[in-house]
Amino acid sequence: MSMTDEPGLARSPGVTYQNLLDGDSRDVPAVLRLEHPRYLGSEDIDVGRYTSRAWHDQEVSHVWRKVWQYACRTDEIPELGDYLVYEIVRDSYIVMRTETGIKAYVNACLHRGRRLKDHDGRCSEIRCAFHGFAWTLDGDLHDIPGRWDFPHVDDAEFSLPEARVDEWAGFVFINPDPDAEPLADFLGEIVDQFAVWDLEKRYKQAHVAKVINANWKVTQEAFCEAYHVNATHPQIMAYLGDTNSQVDIWDNFARVITPSGTPSPLLEWEPTPDEMMRSMLDVRHDQEPPAALDDEADMRQVAAAGARQRWRKIAGDDWVDRMSDAELMDSIDYTVFPNFHPWGAFNRIVYRFRPNGDDHRSAIMECIFLAPYRGEKPPPCEVHWLTEDETFTDAPELGMLGKVFNQDLFNMAKVQLGLETTRKPGITLGNYQEAKVRWLHHKLGQWVDRGREAAVTFNAADAGNGSGDSSTAGTG
Ligand code: FES
Ligand SMILES: [Fe+2]
Repeated sequence: MSMTDEPGLARSPGVTYQNLLDGDSRDVPAVLRLEHPRYLGSEDIDVGRYTSRAWHDQEVSHVWRKVWQYACRTDEIPELGDYLVYEIVRDSYIVMRTETGIKAYVNACLHRGRRLKDHDGRCSEIRCAFHGFAWTLDGDLHDIPGRWDFPHVDDAEFSLPEARVDEWAGFVFINPDPDAEPLADFLGEIVDQFAVWDLEKRYKQAHVAKVINANWKVTQEAFCEAYHVNATHPQIMAYLGDTNSQVDIWDNFARVITPSGTPSPLLEWEPTPDEMMRSMLDVRHDQEPPAALDDEADMRQVAAAGARQRWRKIAGDDWVDRMSDAELMDSIDYTVFPNFHPWGAFNRIVYRFRPNGDDHRSAIMECIFLAPYRGEKPPPCEVHWLTEDETFTDAPELGMLGKVFNQDLFNMAKVQLGLETTRKPGITLGNYQEAKVRWLHHKLGQWVDRGREAAVTFNAADAGNGSGDSSTAGTG
């Protein structure tokens, strides 16, 4: 689809992302040449989606219990019996490497319900700490202490219940819904779009997690558009084409591509290439940038050449020479519904946002770096949990990103506070630049409506037994 002035498809005046790609020093991969704008309406989004407990409960029933969700990387559980505890709202799963592949057991004992695993680890059987019921790694019951007292337990019916598991690009996904479509169907075209970047051949270089005092969507949406850059991160406007961003919406995934090495169209002055370079490298007042740039320099090519030089030793000639300028420097921020953000190309970022336990007013934000390597794959790093008092600059592994995240962090809890007190029933979104935020809500609405309809059908079929379904309460 080409650029158009139709509502919802009109872009910021000035250079487009596709124009910038024309100046690349390499051929850019076809995936960056795709354009898929989609107008999903201009209506306000109900504030209750961030503040209402009833809405949260709908998300639990109709989204978190039904959707494919990223649990971990395959190399985080490399050996037989390795497991990781994945938690989502009220649910907990043991994601485990078994003889027959990776499985995800519901983390609850079938005797009297104790959570089976409290932490990540490795085991040779799954034994409950309360009375000692035990299961094999494949989930079959294999021991009940004092077996004589349980003649009514049928071993065949005492296997651990499982969620579905599948993998893509080194990511392990789970789905609690036995009737869900296959992962590959759910992911759709994104699989082909990422083929050129092969995230499987990366190792987990950094993993930082923090509890944020805001609904998970407030937290996630702070990373779904570049429109906030002018007010939240003004220091990067000299080299970031915030409002030049290209927004593309497919079905279960969407992306915002924000170009680097080009100034914000919102600036009322024009930075020179040298000023862009200093800003990009975060050069202090008493430091010199690596080389003074003349006014004719093509900043995107210069910066990409610098990135190639830095990564050559780490990633190897083949890899570095193949990468276009765009892949080395732009923010290619994909989101897979509902909460998983693998960035395309070279930018190592993967984000995940989820509710903090069952609290709809706090969230867990995670930033993972998946880095290329040469030779033997380095082991994945541990999660670095920041405490309540720490900010992202307490995670030096994030580099300059820590400072930028802190600027985002400064808004999040205040957005939640504002949403709790506002008298306006809905939030208002820009048609183009904030289309990924709208897409998230569009998808959420679809999933919740579908789940509610299924519950109504189920209850109608089951009428007369008095088992009402509470899931119809709520705001939309
Ligand atoms: S609750 Fe697990 S063995 Fe009793
Ligand atoms: Fe930001």
